[in-house]
Amino acid sequence: MRYDSITQTIGNTPLVRIDPRVHGLRHIDLYGKLEMFNPFGSVKDRAAWNMVRPELDAAVRAGSQIVELSSGNTAKALSVLAGMHGLSFKSVTNRMRVPEIKDLLLLLGAEIEELPGRSECLDPTDTDDPLTLFHRTLSEPGSAYLHTDQYFNDRNTEAHALGTGPEIVKDLDGRVPDWFVACVGTAGSSTGVARSLREHDPRVRVVGLVAHKSDFIPGIRTIDEVHEVGLFDPATYDTMESVTADEAIDGMLTLARGCGILAGPTGGAAYFGTVRHLRELDAELTDDDERKAAVFIVCDRIESYLSYVKQRRPEAVGLTPRKNALSDVSDAEIAAVATLRAPEAREWIARERPLVIDLRSPSAYAALHIEDSVNIVDELFAELIRGGLPFSRRRPLLLACPVGDRSARYAALLTRMGHTDARSLAGGIIAWRDAGAPLGRD
Ligand SMILES: Cc1ncc(COP(=O)(O)O)c(C=O)c1O
Repeated sequence: MRYDSITQTIGNTPLVRIDPRVHGLRHIDLYGKLEMFNPFGSVKDRAAWNMVRPELDAAVRAGSQIVELSSGNTAKALSVLAGMHGLSFKSVTNRMRVPEIKDLLLLLGAEIEELPGRSECLDPTDTDDPLTLFHRTLSEPGSAYLHTDQYFNDRNTEAHALGTGPEIVKDLDGRVPDWFVACVGTAGSSTGVARSLREHDPRVRVVGLVAHKSDFIPGIRTIDEVHEVGLFDPATYDTMESVTADEAIDGMLTLARGCGILAGPTGGAAYFGTVRHLRELDAELTDDDERKAAVFIVCDRIESYLSYVKQRRPEAVGLTPRKNALSDVSDAEIAAVATLRAPEAREWIARERPLVIDLRSPSAYAALHIEDSVNIVDELFAELIRGGLPFSRRRPLLLACPVGDRSARYAALLTRMGHTDARSLAGGIIAWRDAGAPLGRD
């Protein structure tokens, strides 16, 4: 196989049958569409190239900078494509959470601009999300940027409607799978593939997978977040289901150890979600039924997520099992937490002088925060308390996050660890702001 450019190797990825001894389904053949075989490592290579290609000549003439709101694979593909054409690339994001990906982007020459999102409340007088404002500036006519706009750009979806979907049908010898399962980030891949499969056979069932509420699976959204995506249309999916980070890691380990498929967490989530969805349906089928087929997408590779796995499943890399994990906290424990609304919290702060811990990002904290609060970013705080309580168990504590969900979870965990008075700011910094309570700025 010989090519004139690496971009010609985008697409035409393998469709690999998963060993039935691994998944255990008796009447359904399960296939992984291995998008990690794309040259820059992920399903997003297709979308990035399709979005950028028609704009390249003009961008090169104008010396534009390519810009995208991405903290992962789209940014990776665009960095490479920009570099190959003598352009620079800037990734704008409200949280670069996977350190290996950040390092890789910098290595590839990307500029990274981290902004707080609306839920982190930048400025009480400005109710618009800073990311949305930034988005608007980028899209203005005459802008010096080539903004690929992956959350709204139909060419993202088109890359999969014209490429990924038809490839699946071709590799199944013209047959449309009975089920198609994909994780949802921008919704481009699931929407595009679903559209193409339905054109061949409208009976295909489409399952969209999102991360479980308040769980983080890099590259995809939770059910609440997915509604903010311009390309997302609930009608695309016959059903939406959620997968926890733990389940995604289970799936990842099964694919890697049982099938030799070195998938990242969303590949693991897709595998796990597919088998879970099909198990009962498979049990209802008999040997007399025609064999069914299901396809799921493996978006990228395992290597960039070692720290992600290490943090959540240390025993998988030979470390001692984790203690004090946030995901272990039950709904009942969270419901039992003392939550204070802004006026009560103000009063309590004045009376008891609790330690106030703000879990938001440093940029959101620097912009505005409760006076005398301490900023310990969510992920760092999780790491910190893994070793035990980092303060006296009797020191009153008020936890604050953007909207009050994470802080309640932490308060429940600290209570379980023996802290005697850990409380959560109800509604988070947003509610504090909306109540007109005082905010300081550095
Ligand atoms: C690792 C990973 N998995 C899954 C997806 C979801 O793909 P899509 O954006 O097409 O919904 C993404 C998107 O960024 C991703 O980076």
